[in-house]
Amino acid sequence: MLNSDAPDHTRLRRLTTAAFTPRRVDALRPRIARLAAGLAGDLAARLERDGTTDLVDAFAFPLPVLVIGEVLGVPEADRADLRAWTYRVGSPADALAPGAVDDAWTALHAYFTALIADKRRAPGDDLFSCLVHDAREGGLADGELLAMAFLLLFAGYETTMNLLASATLLLLTHPDELAAARQDTAGRYWDAVTEEALRHASPLEGTTWRRTTEDVDMGGGAVIPAGASVLVVLAAANRDPGRFPEPDAFRPGRYLPGPERAAAHAAFGHGPHFCLGARLARLEATVALPLLFDALPGLRLAVDPGLLPYRPGLLVRGPRELPVAW
Ligand code: HEM
Repeated sequence: MLNSDAPDHTRLRRLTTAAFTPRRVDALRPRIARLAAGLAGDLAARLERDGTTDLVDAFAFPLPVLVIGEVLGVPEADRADLRAWTYRVGSPADALAPGAVDDAWTALHAYFTALIADKRRAPGDDLFSCLVHDAREGGLADGELLAMAFLLLFAGYETTMNLLASATLLLLTHPDELAAARQDTAGRYWDAVTEEALRHASPLEGTTWRRTTEDVDMGGGAVIPAGASVLVVLAAANRDPGRFPEPDAFRPGRYLPGPERAAAHAAFGHGPHFCLGARLARLEATVALPLLFDALPGLRLAVDPGLLPYRPGLLVRGPRELPVAW
């Protein structure tokens, strides 16, 4: 879907949009809260035991994977496998033994193939079951369904992981903003923190490749010729000083409701490929962040933030690890 154009894209997108209704996404709220509370408890136990721990590994990574597990209707008993395979496939390769990535791909492929057959036989109340059911009428081939399961997992977990890690880092390095969010029981400040973290941190730095079908005049004498490959850098758009005053400052207040509210950011892309999971990602962050800081009121960074390693590559952006203490 991500790499297709109309009419194929329109057909695939219509079916997935029908499964990802706002009502179905919002219904995940209590399950997300339960998962986030469980992980925050594990994190507290690790901190109690070891003094410091990596918040990416203990919280920001597993939460989105487990939420996608809910979306795909992966039974609870299989979630640990899903987490382990995803970790192997998505980790910077230097952290893993040779062959581990290939084995994890093969295992995921076999698992999703079996999952589709299961959903066909006995549909559940998950979003993926709706997609599998609609696929029959909508002409979605099995291969396309399999690709969709992979897309949902990989579009959904790494991005949200980076959002959660970056938002936590920004709050821990901006204690006044954290205090303001904590005081706001209506949740509006947490919404604003989420929007500002999306803008400031741009969890998906660039879009997938585009190809110009005609000359595109960018103004100022810059013309992209027809037939060029283009990578749109969302992170740059999100720091455009013409659109966001003091773009490098983390100021959630700019996204509070009111006439002064900042312009929309581009973190979820634009146009026909606009992120299908935007509502889910926002829901995860606005549920998980207050829960995390409630469960661990003394949370603090265990390292100098300037020395934190970032994930390699051009596409996704976020700290590779976030050592914390309390
Ligand atoms: C903070 C979290 C997220 C960010 C920043 C993000 C960002 C984006 C962006 C920028 C695109 C457009 C890419 C392009 O134009 O080439 C996109 C597409 C997409 N996203 Fe997300 N995403 C997030 C979370 C999710 C989640 C949780 C899901 C699903 C469960 C998801 C599913 C998708 C899908 C399926 C597409 C492809 C849509 C299409 O091609 O029509 N995303 N996302």
